[in-house]
Amino acid sequence: MAVLSGLIGSPLWVIILFLLLVKPLDGRGSSRGPFGWLAGSVAPAPSDGICATSVAVHGYICQEHEVTTRDGYILNMQRIPEGRVSNGKTTRQPVLIQHGVLVDGMTWLLNPAEQNLPLILAEEGFDVWIANTRGTRFSRRHNFLNPDEPTYWNWSWDELVTYDLPAFFDYVHSKTSQKIHYVGHSLGTLIALGALSEGRQVDKLRSVAMLSPIAYLDHMTTPLGDLAAKAFLGEFTTLLGVSEFNPKGEPVGSFLKSLCSRSGVDCYDLLSALTGKNCCLNASTVELFIKNEPQSTSTKNMVHLAQTVRDKVIAKYNYGRADYNLMHYGEVRPPAYNISAIPHDLPLFFSYGGSDSLSDVRDVELLLDSFKFHDINKISVQFVKDYAHADFIMGVNAKDIVYNQVVSFFKRQA
Ligand SMILES: *[C@@H]1O[C@H](CO)[C@@H](O)[C@H](O)[C@H]1NC(C)=O
Ligand SMILES: *[C@@H]1O[C@H](CO)[C@@H](O)[C@H](O)[C@H]1NC(C)=O
Ligand SMILES: *[C@@H]1O[C@H](CO)[C@@H](O)[C@H](O)[C@H]1NC(C)=O
Repeated sequence: MAVLSGLIGSPLWVIILFLLLVKPLDGRGSSRGPFGWLAGSVAPAPSDGICATSVAVHGYICQEHEVTTRDGYILNMQRIPEGRVSNGKTTRQPVLIQHGVLVDGMTWLLNPAEQNLPLILAEEGFDVWIANTRGTRFSRRHNFLNPDEPTYWNWSWDELVTYDLPAFFDYVHSKTSQKIHYVGHSLGTLIALGALSEGRQVDKLRSVAMLSPIAYLDHMTTPLGDLAAKAFLGEFTTLLGVSEFNPKGEPVGSFLKSLCSRSGVDCYDLLSALTGKNCCLNASTVELFIKNEPQSTSTKNMVHLAQTVRDKVIAKYNYGRADYNLMHYGEVRPPAYNISAIPHDLPLFFSYGGSDSLSDVRDVELLLDSFKFHDINKISVQFVKDYAHADFIMGVNAKDIVYNQVVSFFKRQA
């Protein structure tokens, strides 16, 4: 089941792996192959919102909300205002939960009810808000663009920092009039770091929990990862231009197939080689994951992530030409996000895994190093030796190992 180690929120492995999961190469993974059971997978219709399929069924109150960003994207949120048994508390602190790239808010809800983070937080007395990033299945509307037009996809994670995150924060704040706890996974941590380093949202925040944090990505140095990163910076991008990056569709599928064959990397074996990375996934949960994910993002977002791998800095999207950068930023190089500018008294919790091939331990340690001047009593770090990327959102023991820590961290910041 560890095949998912790179899937969740992964900018590079995910594509390769997902190709293998849904489009087996050379027929070796035909319907009789190890993933043949995928053939019958059907994602729920858009009319079945996340509340209906994944929350109300467990006996929780759940509301669907709609949030419009300043650049016109209409985003979907779920609110779980309380636990199954209302404990009479009238004021509950809001928690905003942000997923990673190529997945949506439903990934948090795939574990059984008593083991998934949003419902645990609701039971612990928090007012839980789940974000769904632009381009994912329930967040594909816009005031005047539609997803069939290239312009709809003309954004990278810079826009998630500048527009999506502020829209979620402002909305939750306007509904609750309270400071917010934030928990992000993978890309959900990178965009928070980006926002905080620019001083955004700081006044509305109570504390931040980062699971499988990604910021620096340069230790993700496998031959295929490298090749994929190079491809995103080269011919693939030229081929796709400004467009949707839909791992389930064409031309992304064909491209990945050719990438595998050209690289001389046996992607089928690679899949087996990755087995064992995520320590703690449950087959039923993984099956649900495959039915529901992955989700689209923009090609530009993938390119931006590949630039982060290449450039070893956390900076804004690079237009690839000095004159274009000058036009967009007034500088020939894209401005860097300054992690050191994050307020030193902001309560921070980090949890990272020793087997995470995406949030590589060396990269996370580099990130943590940039917090060396943070108030020592405002930062907590958890290292989970056996955990890889997906364990943090679907691990059978994630409640005991990680979520209980997140809950007690949030309660300490009350
Ligand atoms: C795995 O998931 C199934 C379905 O949700 C559940 O019944 C089972 O108890 C889970 N197993 C473990 C070890 O958590
Ligand atoms: C994408 O946005 C940039 C400016 O941010 C603009 O120069 C470019 O023309 C846009 N491309 C499309 C296809 O909308
Ligand atoms: C980053 O922020 C810190 C703290 O505000 C500041 O001292 C430093 O000069 C900044 N670095 C850059 C490159 O702007």
